[in-house]
Amino acid sequence: MDMRVNIAGLELSNPVMTASGTFGYGVEFKRYGQLEKLGGMVVKGLSLEPRAGNPMPRIADAPAGMLNAIGLQNIGARNFVEKRLKLLPWGETAVVANLYACSASEFADLAAYLSEQEGIAALEVNISCPNVSSGGVLFGQDPSMAAAVTRAVKDRSGEMPVIVKLTPNVTDIASMAKAVVDAGADAVSLINTLSAMSVDARTRKPRLANVIGGLSGPAIKPVALRCVWQVAQAVDVPIIGMGGITSAEDVLEFILVGATAVQVGTANFIRPDFAFRLVDELAALVDELGIESWDDYRGSLQV
Ligand SMILES: Cc1cc2nc3c(=O)[nH]c(=O)nc-3n(C[C@H](O)[C@H](O)[C@H](O)COP(=O)(O)O)c2cc1C
Repeated sequence: MDMRVNIAGLELSNPVMTASGTFGYGVEFKRYGQLEKLGGMVVKGLSLEPRAGNPMPRIADAPAGMLNAIGLQNIGARNFVEKRLKLLPWGETAVVANLYACSASEFADLAAYLSEQEGIAALEVNISCPNVSSGGVLFGQDPSMAAAVTRAVKDRSGEMPVIVKLTPNVTDIASMAKAVVDAGADAVSLINTLSAMSVDARTRKPRLANVIGGLSGPAIKPVALRCVWQVAQAVDVPIIGMGGITSAEDVLEFILVGATAVQVGTANFIRPDFAFRLVDELAALVDELGIESWDDYRGSLQV
């Protein structure tokens, strides 16, 4: 079968991408497989200036998953472009920049800079930063703030596809999706981590220095499937699904509920060669199940 998929003009050789924050800047994973094999990779969230992130410990185990409160540590957009981007095979696999900022105008400046860089195929906008002037509400939890960020990014990104990444930490994810699509998002990706905490009964301490963190991994897959399904009913743009993918069957589940492509996150920490293997496993499973085209299979869940 032709494994290619198209996300708002962005052509991927197959639907397997890697998720932001779990695949470094891509370069670190070169020794585990051929980056060219992946449909695409989303690099660690980039801010205008480098960020040190939160104090340690910022990772904790959870049943069937993990918690993190990295705090968006990154080398900054300029360092990424000047030092890492040129080391990636961007002619053969889509390199997506994940953007993180704490005001709409900072998002816009970041989008303007990154969208001009040869080698970046699309922007993924992480709207999980709290807007301090609005009392700490996350951009992604308020439809009008999410729409304002989306518009600001779209205004300054030229022709580059803009993917808005949604948080599951809302009452109604479908209305968030509608708000960003109405504001111009070319695609949406979901889900980001679930707000969570882990505590130790003996030491009486939280396991993360930040106390609260984000839950990811297989534990969140049912939530992610539900979110993708609801968003697929609500909007008409391509959806990139993620949350707990650890097998080719998981990938098909996301496509069945409406995703066009997927991202692999926590599984990269468990097996750094996982995403590369997944590309082959997915092709084999598609053959085994006799799936003839993504267009036929996508969203074909029978309810
Ligand atoms: C350690 C870690 C760091 C992450 N950093 C980012 C980030 O910088 N930007 C972002 O949009 N998502 C980030 N995420 C969220 C993932 O991209 C993904 O949405 C989430 O982990 C769900 O997928 P999974 O269950 O396959 O891990 C991070 C996740 C983890 C575990």
